[in-house]
Amino acid sequence: MRHKPRYPLSISLLHWLLAVALIGNLVIGWLLDDHEELIALHKSIGIAILGLALIRIANRLRMRRRLPPSINVAGSPSYFAEKAVHYLLLVLMLAIPMLGWLKTNAAGHVASCFGVFSLPTLVPKSHELSQLFGELHALTAYGLATLMGLHVLAAVAHWLMNSENVLPRISPLPGRLRPKVSTRN
Ligand code: HEM
Ligand code: HEM
Repeated sequence: MRHKPRYPLSISLLHWLLAVALIGNLVIGWLLDDHEELIALHKSIGIAILGLALIRIANRLRMRRRLPPSINVAGSPSYFAEKAVHYLLLVLMLAIPMLGWLKTNAAGHVASCFGVFSLPTLVPKSHELSQLFGELHALTAYGLATLMGLHVLAAVAHWLMNSENVLPRISPLPGRLRPKVSTRN
């Protein structure tokens, strides 16, 4: 089967929805020290992210035969770097809210989503576990921010070094994919 050069619409819609939600919740997370009143909102958005991330991963598996081929040469270092960053980003999207959920339970609270429903309590109240999950939650959130930076830099680098704009590949908007500009005659 010939691959289309674009990601399917469902993949690009979930990509941008989650990008906005993740960046927003990272910012809210970093504001928590000075704005404790934001904690319920932070947890609620985080639980919504967990649900959307599960849908995204299931959808990606469903669509695995319709993904466009990588723009990097198969087997090259940049190909492996791209795959590693994409898979790590997908894993962190699940791991970070899970660790936040565990931290909340270990601190003796129930993880509630906008007061509409609550997640089951997975661990009993424990000061040590609360500290551990809190630190892992913060660490993985920094990891996500770093990988996101690398991910965006890679897209910019492709654009600057190869005149290859990869954004239309993941854009949900209709539009023509510009062919790679060649400087050779
Ligand atoms: C904030 C700005 C972002 C930009 C500009 C951006 C840009 C892109 C682009 C251009 C692609 C297509 C790469 C290709 O040509 O194959 C892509 C794919 C991808 N991006 Fe992003 N991205 C952003 C945020 C994020 C975030 C926050 C995540 C975290 C989960 C993420 C995860 C992925 C993944 C996993 C793919 C592969 C397609 C998929 O499986 O969904 N991106 N991104
Ligand atoms: C992907 C979604 C999430 C992101 C990106 C995120 C990010 C963050 C960040 C950046 C912090 C500040 C860490 C620090 O510098 O100390 C934080 C704190 C926190 N988050 Fe999340 N979070 C997410 C989901 C959740 C969820 C689902 C819950 C609970 C249900 C949660 C509960 C907490 C709690 C309780 C704190 C305070 C931690 C402490 O005081 O040690 N988070 N989060």
